[in-house]
Amino acid sequence: MTEFKQRIFSGVQPSGNLTLGNYLGAIRNWVTLQKTYESIFCVVDLHAITVWQDPAVLRNATREVAAGMIASGIDPKECIIFNQSQVPGHAELAWIFNCVARMGWLNRMTQFKEKAGKNRERASVGLYVYPDLMAADIMLYQATHVPVGEDQKQHLELTRDIAQKFNSDYGTEFFPIVEPLILGEAKRVMSLRDGTAKMSKSDPSENSRINLTDDRDTIAKKIRKARTDSEAIPSEIAGLEGRPEVKNLISIFAALSDRTVAEVCQQYGGQDFAPFKKDLAELSVSVLGPITEEMKRLCDEKTYIDQVLKEGSEKARILSEPVLKQVHNIVGFLQS
Ligand code: AMP
Ligand code: TRP
Repeated sequence: MTEFKQRIFSGVQPSGNLTLGNYLGAIRNWVTLQKTYESIFCVVDLHAITVWQDPAVLRNATREVAAGMIASGIDPKECIIFNQSQVPGHAELAWIFNCVARMGWLNRMTQFKEKAGKNRERASVGLYVYPDLMAADIMLYQATHVPVGEDQKQHLELTRDIAQKFNSDYGTEFFPIVEPLILGEAKRVMSLRDGTAKMSKSDPSENSRINLTDDRDTIAKKIRKARTDSEAIPSEIAGLEGRPEVKNLISIFAALSDRTVAEVCQQYGGQDFAPFKKDLAELSVSVLGPITEEMKRLCDEKTYIDQVLKEGSEKARILSEPVLKQVHNIVGFLQS
């Protein structure tokens, strides 16, 4: 078996505001992992345009996501932070993976089904092959571990299938079989208005999510308005069954306070929601407030952010070029 250098790759789309879901499901875990793994974090602008984006808004969102990563504690001196379109190898390897992945595999992707909705005929072709590009992002660096929220699990299984098929089609062990890292007490943060829908940047309801750009009053208001039910908070995990909104708020509380869901149930069990919500609002503001402020400050420093992304892209390109060259060789592309 080939031994691969342990390396992390992960990405966020610049398709709207960063949410509490992005923070708890992904970015916060990256901050811890960057200490032990060589890490590459990417603002995936090629993925964002699978759905129409206004160019000026996209430019701003790209900087804002990079600022959010840095403000949350990702260290641009220790890790590579860059935007995907500045490294041409992502699109090139994605093409090769389009020829490895099977239609049947992509037809099973639930994210495509959700995003394309009923009008599948009118979805972009890019949205359909989105998971091939994601596999290319990871394999371009032969990354071994990918920290993501639970919603990306199926895409990572596809990444493993593509790597395996490439390896077996070409009789090689060139690509590693990645391990997903889905960590923490809030692996899937749900909408504050509907406990059965994922908290998402693109939900039309502002009250469904907490944005990393929200000020203190807005965060407190959204939590106050968050949907619950008429029963008391349960004192044990089993009592969360069938109560998705309550389970979501308790999980958020646990993740933000570095405790377990069971501990939070024990503390608030038997009470109604008013004191819990008050504490959750304070906790959220105390964790997110400093990040929001730093993010705002960084967003005004466009030249600094652009410089981080430029330097990151240069480093990423250096890592990617020999990998792509070897892929060309394996596939049989003539190199003169
Ligand atoms: P996206 O905003 O779709 O580009 O997602 C970027 C990262 O955040 C991925 O690792 C997602 O799995 C994670 N993520 C997004 N929304 C949520 C959520 N509601 N709960 C947990 N993780 C999430
Ligand atoms: N598809 C991911 C999402 O929307 C973003 C992403 C693109 C990604 N490329 C990646 C995540 C590579 C991890 C690794 O959440």
